Amino acid sequence: MNDATVLTTHQLSKSYGSRPAVKHLDLDVRRGEIFGFLGPNGAGKTTTIRMALGLIRPSSGRVEVLGCDIARQKAEVLPRVGALVESPALYTYMSGRDNLRAFAAVLGGVPARRLDEVLDVVDLRGRQKDRVGSYSMGMKQRLGLAVALLHEPELLVLDEPANGLDPAGIVEMRDLMRRLAASGKTIFVSSHVLGEVQQICDRVAIINLGQLVRVAPVADLIGAHGEFEVKLENPERALQLVREQPWGSGARLQEGTLVTTSPSGRGRDLVQFLAQADCWPDAVSERQHDLEEIFLDLTASNGGVN
Ligand SMILES: Nc1ncnc2c1ncn2[C@@H]1O[C@H](COP(=O)(O)OP(=O)(O)OP(=O)(O)O)[C@@H](O)[C@H]1O
Ligand SMILES: [Mg+2]
Repeated sequence: MNDATVLTTHQLSKSYGSRPAVKHLDLDVRRGEIFGFLGPNGAGKTTTIRMALGLIRPSSGRVEVLGCDIARQKAEVLPRVGALVESPALYTYMSGRDNLRAFAAVLGGVPARRLDEVLDVVDLRGRQKDRVGSYSMGMKQRLGLAVALLHEPELLVLDEPANGLDPAGIVEMRDLMRRLAASGKTIFVSSHVLGEVQQICDRVAIINLGQLVRVAPVADLIGAHGEFEVKLENPERALQLVREQPWGSGARLQEGTLVTTSPSGRGRDLVQFLAQADCWPDAVSERQHDLEEIFLDLTASNGGVN
C-alpha cells in the first residue's frame, strides 16, 4: 500500500458456514477518487464493506485502511473513516440536530459549529429541528451521511446510499457525493444502480458471487468498442453492402440505424466506403456501451443473482 492508496483488500474472503460470500477479493481504492463497487443482489458488497470497516472478521485475507490493518488497528483508523452501511441507525423521536448532537457526544471532540457545517453539506439546515420520524427516506439518508461526516473523515464508505430514494433523492445524493469528492474526500460506494455509478465514479469494480469480475475506469468500460452508428437515408442498402465486406459481417440495423465496424477501425474509412457506394451518411458516431449492458454481460455467465 502506498500513499495514493487508501483502502486495499488482500485476498479477502468470507464464508458463512460452508457458503462463501466473498472469495479472494483484491481491491485498491486510491486517494481522491470515487470508486464504485458494483454487483447484483447477494454478490457480497455489504459483506466486503463490513469487513473493510472491521464490523465482521474475514475468514481469510486482510484489509488495509489508510495504511493500517483494520483487524489490528481499528480504533486508530475508524475515526478517520465515515461510513453509511445500509439504512442509518437514527433516533426517530429526536430532531435531526439532536441526532447529530448525540452522535457527536459519542465520538467526542466534535466542535459545536461542525453540526451546522454538516447540516449545510447535506442541505438539512432548514429541517434540523423536525423529528427524524417525519423525514423522508432521502432526508434520513442524508442525515446518516451527516453523521458519517461529523468527524471530518478522509475516506467515506457508503453502502448503497441511493437505496430507497426516489429519483429526486438519487440526484441529490449524487450531487452530494460529487461535492464531497471535490472537497478532497475519497469515496468508496457500493451500488446496483448502475446509471448512478456510471455518472459519478472514476473507477468501478464489478463483483458477482463474491468474486471480482472486472475493475476498470468507467471511461474504459463504456468507451468505444470499435463500432459505429450510422444514420443514412437507405440503411437496408448500406447494410447489404457492408455485410458483403470481410470486415462487415457483424453489421446490423438497430431502430433504423446501421451499426457496424469500419474497414480500418477508423470512422473516416467507413464514411469513405459508404460514400463511394453512394450511400452518404447523414451522421456517424462511435458506439459507446452502456455500463448496464457490460454489467449484465459480465455477471450473466454464472447466473447473476444468487
Ligand atoms: N449474516 C449472514 N449470515 C449468513 N449469510 C449471509 C450473512 N450476510 C450475508 N450473507 C450471504 O452472503 C452473500 C452476500 O451477501 P451481501 O449482503 O454481502 O450481498 P450484497 O452484494 O450486499 O447484496 P445486496 O445488493 O442485496 O445488498 C449472500 O449470499 C448472503 O445471503
Ligand atoms: Mg448489500
